Formats: sequence, structure tokens, C-alpha cells
Amino acid sequence: MAMTFKAFHTSTSLTTNQLLEQALAQYQALPCSLLPAMQYALLGEGKRVRPLFIALLGETLSIAPDKLAPLMVAIECIHAYSLVHDDLPDMDNDDLRRGVPTCHIKYTPGTAILVGDALQSLAFEHIADSNVLSDTQKVTCLRILAKAAGYQGMCGGQAIDLAFTDKPITLAELTQLHQLKTGALLSACVDMVIALQPDINGSNIAHLQAFSRSLGLAFQVQDDILDVTTDSATLGKPSGSDEQLNKATFPALLGLQSAQEYLAQLYAQALQSSAQLPYNTGLLNDFAEYLIHRKY
Ligand code: IPE
Ligand code: IPE
Ligand code: MG
Ligand code: MG
Ligand code: MG
Repeated sequence: MAMTFKAFHTSTSLTTNQLLEQALAQYQALPCSLLPAMQYALLGEGKRVRPLFIALLGETLSIAPDKLAPLMVAIECIHAYSLVHDDLPDMDNDDLRRGVPTCHIKYTPGTAILVGDALQSLAFEHIADSNVLSDTQKVTCLRILAKAAGYQGMCGGQAIDLAFTDKPITLAELTQLHQLKTGALLSACVDMVIALQPDINGSNIAHLQAFSRSLGLAFQVQDDILDVTTDSATLGKPSGSDEQLNKATFPALLGLQSAQEYLAQLYAQALQSSAQLPYNTGLLNDFAEYLIHRKY
């Protein structure tokens, strides 16, 4: 019998946590707190949404799980790094993450900067060192991940986020901001998995990419909504942080109700894209549902 989404999520989170622990276990301790601080940032109570997406896409496209493992580790390393830097005093200046003090509070801002840098390097090291991917697959995935993490993706989005803090923003600018800071890494999940599947045709690639684009934007819209609707204890991060900093968010620009309506539209768009695919997309649709209805 096919696994339910919930069972798939639970088992993938366990596997992901083991893979992340193993990825750090290769490092010898240095006479400083960098390694414990990296463990603190990477192994905390995250939802592991991006590795889960890779695993679900792999399951949908019948790709062997051992080939997906390096990609799952790499994307979560980039994501964890982005959170550590996002929380720094010169960015969102938050003191709570995943239910515990942020990395720069637990350690120091200097250590937190280096944690982010070293986790980013680990992401690329981990793909490069893989003995299950071909050289061509490695180069393709490294290129996809580098682009999604950098100027054309997450860093570009974070820079627009900073540029529009305390400043008016248009809907087009806010959409671009969210697509880059959050959507780019979710799109990279699709693009990397596609790179492992030589048989997939152009129209199926386009539908998968459209699915991830709608979902990536929806994910950040829901994150914005949760910031104004949910308490810090449930979120594991400070509620109301966006409002306090006067951040560009969907509820701030459109109002809460319109932001919720927009989220529902993005969800419907994602389902329209997956409906065009010739695969069993039940788990991918459940994933979309989970992302937009999540409580933290
Ligand atoms: C939070 O990401 C930051 C965004 C890009 C929205 P997650 O909601 O995936 O955070 P964790 O990994 O579960 O802590
Ligand atoms: C951050 O967006 C997206 C990243 C690239 C880390 P937010 O600043 O809204 O993320 P949270 O709410 O602090 O998790
Ligand atoms: Mg931020
Ligand atoms: Mg933040
Ligand atoms: Mg947020």
C-alpha cells in the first residue's frame, strides 16, 4: 500500500536528520565553538520542508533515494545558513529560532556569520564529494544550487527585503522579493531532481517548475501570515517581528484577509499545475496542502 503523506513526512524527517548528523560527523573538532554552533544551527527542530520536497519529487519521478540524499543535505545546509544570517542583528535581529535562542545569541554574531559561511560551503562540498552522482549530475546540481542561493536567488531576495524595510513596496516588487528569498530554493529542489531524471520531457518539466513557483511564493505568504496570526511559542520564532521592523509582507501590503485569499489562489494554481502531470501526484498535492495550512 502507498505511504500516506504524514508517514512519508515522518520517515523523511528522520532520514534527513541522520544524513545531516553524518554530514557534520566528518569534521574534527577545532579549538573554537564553530562545530558545536554549526550543529546547533543545522540539527535543531526545523520542519525539513526542502529535503522533504526533494524526497517527494524523487518518489514521484521514481528516482533512487540514495541519489537524492546529497541534494537533501545540501539544500538544508543552505537553508539553515540563510536562517542564521537572517536572524543577525544587522538583518532581522531576532532572538528565537526553532524554539531556542538564535545562533548569534547562543554563541556570538561573529560565530554566527562563520556558521552560515561554513554551512554554505558544506552544501557544495557534500554534492561534490558524493559517490552516487555522476560528474555531470554534480556540476549541474552545483550550478543550480549556487544560482538559487546567490544573487539571482536567496541573497538577491534578502537584499531586496532589507532595501524595502521601512519603505513602501509595490505588489510586483514584493512578489519578486518573495520569489527570490524563499521561492528560489524550492525551485532549486525541482531543478536538481529533474537533473537526475534524463527521461523527463519538456512539458512535464514546465509543469513541475510552475508547481514549485506557486508553492514557493505561497510558502512565504503563509510565513508572513503566521507572523501576524500566531504566537511565538507555536512558531518557535518571535511573532510580530515583521510588523515591529516594518517589513514588506503580504499582510502589510494587502491586509490579512486579502493575503489569505491570495494564498488560496496560489494553492489552486499549484494544484492546476500538478493536475497536468502524468504521474501520481497525490503526495505532492498533500505537500502543497500541508505548506499552506501549516501552523508554524
Ligand atoms: C523559514 O523557513 C524561513 C522562510 C524561508 C519562510 P522554514 O519555515 O522552512 O523554517 P524551518 O526550517 O522549519 O525552521
Ligand atoms: C527569510 O524570511 C527568508 C530567508 C531567506 C531566511 P523571514 O525573515 O520572513 O524568515 P523568518 O520569518 O525569520 O523565518
Ligand atoms: Mg528576514
Ligand atoms: Mg526573519
Ligand atoms: Mg517570516
